[in-house]
Amino acid sequence: NRYVVIMAGGTGTRLWPVSTSQKPKQFHDLLGVGKSLLRMTYERFLTHYKRENIYVVTNKDYEMLVKEQIPEITEDQLLLEPNKRNTAPCIAYAAYKIASQNPEATMVVAPADHLILKEDTFHQALSVAMDSASKNDYLVTLGMQPNRPETGYGYIQYIPDSSVVKKVKTFTEKPELELAKKFIESGDFVWNAGIFIWSAKAIIKAFENHLPDIAEIFSDGEEPYFSTHEKLFINKAYTQCVNISIDFGIMEKAENVYVLLADIGWSDLGNWESLHEIRNRDDDNNAIPENVLCFDSTDNIVTTDQSRLVVLHGMKDFLVAEEDGVILICKKNAEKEVKDIVAAVKNKK
Ligand code: GDD
Ligand code: MG
Repeated sequence: NRYVVIMAGGTGTRLWPVSTSQKPKQFHDLLGVGKSLLRMTYERFLTHYKRENIYVVTNKDYEMLVKEQIPEITEDQLLLEPNKRNTAPCIAYAAYKIASQNPEATMVVAPADHLILKEDTFHQALSVAMDSASKNDYLVTLGMQPNRPETGYGYIQYIPDSSVVKKVKTFTEKPELELAKKFIESGDFVWNAGIFIWSAKAIIKAFENHLPDIAEIFSDGEEPYFSTHEKLFINKAYTQCVNISIDFGIMEKAENVYVLLADIGWSDLGNWESLHEIRNRDDDNNAIPENVLCFDSTDNIVTTDQSRLVVLHGMKDFLVAEEDGVILICKKNAEKEVKDIVAAVKNKK
């Protein structure tokens, strides 16, 4: 009864020019280990779940990328979305489809683009959460110890009793910086890892309560998910669907949200600084592959075409990133500024 749903349809633009809407972050070997993040995520689950119970939901544009990177996936496990509607419709599609096959299903829903260093602890946590979610109508999420007022995450305040799976008091998705600072100062909050565990029944109920339009669209009987009409049904469903994340659409509103605190060595690899922290570094804290030479330079991260010799001199805290004929050179924390530039540059490339 245990299923996995990997969400792999987002377009992480903060890591441009490596991550683009044509080939987003999850399809890249961002850690330099010879595998994409999606492949790593898939393999992480393969050790603990039945292969036929692992689903990937992505945009139809990425069908080939997924099939290349997960050749063992069958047509039935690859859910293709015709439009980008964020994570709520993605999860609804998977939940209704899985429920049509197994109404007693419990599922873990996970992003395709995160790093988890402590895999054993991760699976132990999932097992506890799965167990709890199979017995109760809980919407469980994994809580991560925060260390900075990051505004790109969900913040969770919970009832600090002795239970392992703790009841959530408030869930605030992507707060403003001032609020994030208050949350961190109070010490009462953890980050939402974006990894969810619930029964098909519980999440469908939550859609009915909080996103009834989406529930209505996807619940058109069991028929569509069994028949050859699935594509047509889904095409129509997505044109009617609002664009909303599961965090804003359900987690912020539901009363039955629970959190399991877990130290799993988690990073969402959301920006260059986090990648710099995780990659191998030389004595001067430069995260560079073999084709790069650094002189009088510290704290840089370089990722370029391997065939090039790249030489840095007198550089500190820089990013040099190349992909597909585009080279970006900037301070590695210039994320926000670069985002605006990228929007303008994209039309050129
Ligand atoms: N199939 C599909 N379709 N997948 C999608 C879509 C979509 O339309 N949009 C996003 N995804 C995938 C992304 O590829 C990623 O794997 C995952 O869903 C989460 O989406 P993000 O867009 O990366 O969300 P986020 O990082 O802004 O926020 C979420 O993650 C944070 C932790 O990293 C939230 O859950 C936050 O609360 C959380 O703190
Ligand atoms: Mg993310």
